[in-house]
Amino acid sequence: MPAPTDPNRVIIFDTTLRDGEQSPGCSMNLSEKLEMARALAELGVDVIEAGFPIASPGDFESVRAIARQIQGPTIAGLARCNPTDIDRAADAVKDAAKSRIHVFLATSAIHREHKLRMTAEEVARRAVEGVKRARDRCADIEFSPEDAARTELDFLAEVVERVIEAGATTLNIPDTVGYAVPAHYAAIIRHLKQKVRGIDDCVISVHCHNDLGLAVANSLAALGEGARQVECTINGIGERAGNTSLEEVVMALHTRRDFYKLNTGINTRLLYPLSRKLAHVTGQVVQRNKAIVGQNAFAHEAGIHQDGMLKDRSTYEIMRPEDVGIPRTELVLGKHSGRAALKDRIGHLGYKLTDEQLNRVFDEFKSLADKKKEIYDADIEALAENQLQSGTGNLWTLVGFTSTAGTGSQTSAAVTLRHIDGSVHRDAAIGNGPIDALIKAINRITGAQVKVVDYRVRSVSQDMDAQGEANIEIEYAGKRSRARAVSLDVVEASALAYLEVVNRVAARLLRDRLKPTDNVPTEVVPAG
Ligand code: KIV
Ligand code: ZN
Repeated sequence: MPAPTDPNRVIIFDTTLRDGEQSPGCSMNLSEKLEMARALAELGVDVIEAGFPIASPGDFESVRAIARQIQGPTIAGLARCNPTDIDRAADAVKDAAKSRIHVFLATSAIHREHKLRMTAEEVARRAVEGVKRARDRCADIEFSPEDAARTELDFLAEVVERVIEAGATTLNIPDTVGYAVPAHYAAIIRHLKQKVRGIDDCVISVHCHNDLGLAVANSLAALGEGARQVECTINGIGERAGNTSLEEVVMALHTRRDFYKLNTGINTRLLYPLSRKLAHVTGQVVQRNKAIVGQNAFAHEAGIHQDGMLKDRSTYEIMRPEDVGIPRTELVLGKHSGRAALKDRIGHLGYKLTDEQLNRVFDEFKSLADKKKEIYDADIEALAENQLQSGTGNLWTLVGFTSTAGTGSQTSAAVTLRHIDGSVHRDAAIGNGPIDALIKAINRITGAQVKVVDYRVRSVSQDMDAQGEANIEIEYAGKRSRARAVSLDVVEASALAYLEVVNRVAARLLRDRLKPTDNVPTEVVPAG
């Protein structure tokens, strides 16, 4: 990607699908990654880091699918500084209209001595070789000296200068462990700008982790010194305390244009819908007081604040909720609302459904409205997400269940499932609580032998008759799979979510039997 001609344009490099996805609880399957990548392209990000192709065949497949299917942004694949990684990344991104290889190698003394066991000269030489090899395969090369913020400044400048000569077009300066503070990080960028030959012809990028809660502040400080690419993730997901939050850095630049005089290509009205989408896909709920997209971000509770807001919103509001895509009203539809109103609301919430999907959501909406007085945006989102997620052609479908639970009595569940061939199967089990009994009964019918590694239930909206959302993550044959489902009955939501993961495992087994996976190294390499 050539440097933008506008010197005030900040390139937004999204790494939700790479640095974000590799953090605990945030894994996504191929179709979820594609759905997110489509939404990121619509949001207007300039670069999507789609994954780390060498990490697993699945990672390779998803980077390649995103490169082939997603138009607009540059598609980047990450690689360590070795020929196998670089060739694999080149292969994964080669079909993108605009592709990038992102090569990294640690430069700090701590990493050189304890992790790489290499001398400084060896690190510099390997970095140059890696960048040259990548450049032979792709015109757009980003290089990251991992742990740059703890690297000796002169050595950092030397490596950066040598990789520029070797063909790097973007120089990323990662604060891999979230150690930097704003003035320190800004000074690193200033030093490189002053000392490194050729740096003005490249884009300086920043990549901050949030261990001290300073990722956004550090990124903004670096932009003040001339960095023009920010690496960030939706909802700030990422290793440990996360990465720079995309929505926060974008809205800081947007709200304080008077100060920074910088712009991005982001359609800020899509920030909130995308934040919600990621939360649904990963099951990671956004903290209530999270800046920009948290539930309380635009809520005014104190009497004095409410009084000021009624007189003039600018007294206590520096951004308008609609500018980040937060729907104006929370309480929306009821049982008398029609299909058109539902369609309109779904569109406002950022979903694009086919007519067929919309019809199904409408049917579910009507039956929900019969049971529940007030339907909130969150309920509608849950129905739309359910529709987008539910697989067609599932091996097993829930026909019905009963469960008994009570203090002092043994818990049991009886389940009826329909197989794809039309046969109906019933079984029952006892367990430690209704969910355990239900899962055991499902296992008896389907023969599933999966391990539940995470299970969470939450209420979708705030009322007592709210829908419950169940999130289940399972492990099977070393791979994890996650699913969610909503229902007014949390036990039913749990059964549906569990059955969804069982179906996914069954589909994977079938796929694997039909098409053996490529024979590639499966070493998983964590990269912060
Ligand atoms: O944090 C980090 O250093 C990284 C690099 C791979 C850019 O994620
Ligand atoms: Zn990182």
